[in-house]
Amino acid sequence: MAKKLAAGNWKMNGTGADLAQVSALIAAHPAPKCDILICPPATLLSRMSDAAKGSAVKTGGQDCHADASGAHTGDISALMLADTGASHVILGHSERRADHGETDAQVRAKALAAQAAGLIAVICVGETEAQRDAGDTLSVIASQLAGSLPDSCTAVNTVIAYEPVWAIGTGRVPTTDQIAQVHDLMRDALTARFGDADMTLLYGGSVKPDNAAEIFAVANVDGALVGGASLKAADFSTIIAALDAS
Ligand code: 13P
Repeated sequence: MAKKLAAGNWKMNGTGADLAQVSALIAAHPAPKCDILICPPATLLSRMSDAAKGSAVKTGGQDCHADASGAHTGDISALMLADTGASHVILGHSERRADHGETDAQVRAKALAAQAAGLIAVICVGETEAQRDAGDTLSVIASQLAGSLPDSCTAVNTVIAYEPVWAIGTGRVPTTDQIAQVHDLMRDALTARFGDADMTLLYGGSVKPDNAAEIFAVANVDGALVGGASLKAADFSTIIAALDAS
């Protein structure tokens, strides 16, 4: 069985005052069945990791450089993320692929660096609306998985997040059949390549308190990568409870 994970991606949101949301989440979920992860902006990572120490809440970065150190102004290495107490790092999010032109090959190199630093790589894939309309969704996902994952991936060091680009921050969500189709393809492709059927597969894109239970009932959905609804403890808590009940 894949380990269930409720992951929050705070993106470029949050300052010190928002650490109170994490304290509230820790208090609300002293012993969850699923793993809970929050990926705040890098400026909050050390403070959040300290605040979450000894609790059920894990922390992660939103990106890392492929090198361990060096002359890369403004970048952060996987080792540095691990040094803050982080356990995970999101890689290849569609916003980084779009805003920074990240390629599958770059995501693969970052995933190798993350795994070498002892971090769990949360690798994101997802089709654009134009690709879905053209009927290319499954081939796009298969190709992103093939290109973005190094051969070293296992169920222990890797989580995959399927995030249709058109569903992110839009309030639009694929049908449960559409989610199932992609997650079934991912499970088959990952099992065939890595011989490991237990990799955690997240769905992301407009997951909210009122649609989480329906999404978690879909086969091969092991949790969610949540943007906007992870910023407020009350909303994220409802999503965590839905995953625990699934
Ligand atoms: P929203 O939940 O705000 O749609 O964001 C999803 C996402 O991009 C998580 O990484």
